[in-house]
Amino acid sequence: MELKNWLVWIIAALVFVFGVLKRLNGWYYEAKLGKLWPKLPPGDMGWPLLGSTLSYLKHFTSGHPRNVIHNLSIRYGKSDMYKAHLLGRASIIVCTSELCRQVLCDEDKFKPSLPRSITLLSGRKSLMQVFKAEHRRLRRLTTGLISGHMVLEMYINYIQHTVINGLEEWASMKKPIELLTEIKKLTFKIIWNIFMGSSSIDSSIGEIEPLFTKTALGFISLPINFPGFIFHKSLKGRKQLLTILQSIINQKRLVKEREGKKWEAKDMMDLLMELKDEEGEELDDETIKDLIFGKLFAGHETSAYTAMWAILFLTNHPHIFQKAKEEQEDIIKRRPTTQKGITLSEVKQMKFLYQVIDETLRVSGITFMVFREAVVDVEINGKIIPKGWKVIPWFGELYMDEKQFPSPREFNPSRWDNFVATPGAFTPFGLGNRYCPGSDLAKLEISIFLHYFLLSYKVEQLNPKCQRTCLPFPHLKDKCLARVHKVE
Ligand code: HEM
Repeated sequence: MELKNWLVWIIAALVFVFGVLKRLNGWYYEAKLGKLWPKLPPGDMGWPLLGSTLSYLKHFTSGHPRNVIHNLSIRYGKSDMYKAHLLGRASIIVCTSELCRQVLCDEDKFKPSLPRSITLLSGRKSLMQVFKAEHRRLRRLTTGLISGHMVLEMYINYIQHTVINGLEEWASMKKPIELLTEIKKLTFKIIWNIFMGSSSIDSSIGEIEPLFTKTALGFISLPINFPGFIFHKSLKGRKQLLTILQSIINQKRLVKEREGKKWEAKDMMDLLMELKDEEGEELDDETIKDLIFGKLFAGHETSAYTAMWAILFLTNHPHIFQKAKEEQEDIIKRRPTTQKGITLSEVKQMKFLYQVIDETLRVSGITFMVFREAVVDVEINGKIIPKGWKVIPWFGELYMDEKQFPSPREFNPSRWDNFVATPGAFTPFGLGNRYCPGSDLAKLEISIFLHYFLLSYKVEQLNPKCQRTCLPFPHLKDKCLARVHKVE
């Protein structure tokens, strides 16, 4: 046979194999689900094992996660749900506010179920992974320490002190700084103090925070524990962190033993060490470490990314910067001369600043999605979500809904003047039983940070055209390289 004919045959065979492989995963699920299959939402199950993970990750790393739904709607038409195979699991992406609300508020049909990468990295006993009675019990115990008027008032001084020092230090730096990295150190310091305030450890906070960052990188990744893969590095980070947490527990147990009846709980870790179950058994070390680990992570990364975006949006919109600054100056003018620093009631008067934070959360899409799993076959609007499938409320899409938020890409905090989004359309802190217990603390931290920033500082971004990437959260690839200037 001539060489040309061979080539034709080889290309035809490759096209055939490619076509079969591309459909294999879909055929597998079609055979598995039988007559349920035609009732599933439109979509594509992608390649065997990998599904569509790599192409989805590509959209996230290139800073365009919205392309996911955009591409699906071009291929399959506009739909309220799409099927896909992501991060190793058959999944249904949910993208209307009504359906997101339904999924988040019905724990009988949808249980929390994080991707395997997050489960392995955050630990199986973290609050995000426990269910029903166990979840209610641990949540009740730990929420009291991060929410409520009295508790927040207790933290205000430490937050102020940390923020003022941080801003001063950045402005005094001769070299440009990675603003995101610096803000993360700051929010970590705050949350560490709240959870472990009474512990003295050998490793400094400056060493521990980067370990969290390293671990977080693998949260949305293929869970392949092999050298060279992000997930492998993240697992190593988690191991190092757990060793540090274990040494703190050991130290605390020694102090508790030494002090006997005089011992009193002083921070969240102490409290967890005191907690007993129905049989009078104390929590084991694994549970304590996972709970603390989960909260330390949830409590500093999201707040830091939000604060960074708020600064950038304000800096790039001078008229909004000015309006927000005037609100803060008014607060200072009304302040009695004897009062030192900010109070909680002042923070509550920062109406426009809160709108800036909401608008930042909307436009930046920090919480782009959350994860659930169908406990039973669920029929919604004539379509089936099969039992055991992941369900992903895709918040990022809702925040850019033209009907709900006209000119959605525009950063416009004034859109929130007397405006309340329809239920489920704006849920940066989640909804239902899993609503973020740290939302008030996060807003408090960010407001205090923006208060001092607006009054006396400016940021000069060194690469204003720097590209975005969205893993683990949306940020600039240069981590916002900038100079911070103090202004008169
Ligand atoms: C801007 C900052 C923050 C954002 C955008 C945010 C967002 C969220 C969202 C969307 C959820 C719900 C996840 C789900 O439904 O699966 C959540 C849960 C959670 N957040 Fe936050 N969060 C922030 C700050 C904080 C802070 C400061 C803390 C702690 C100090 C915290 C602790 C938690 C915990 C423990 C959960 C799990 C709750 C549960 O499963 O019962 N978060 N957060």
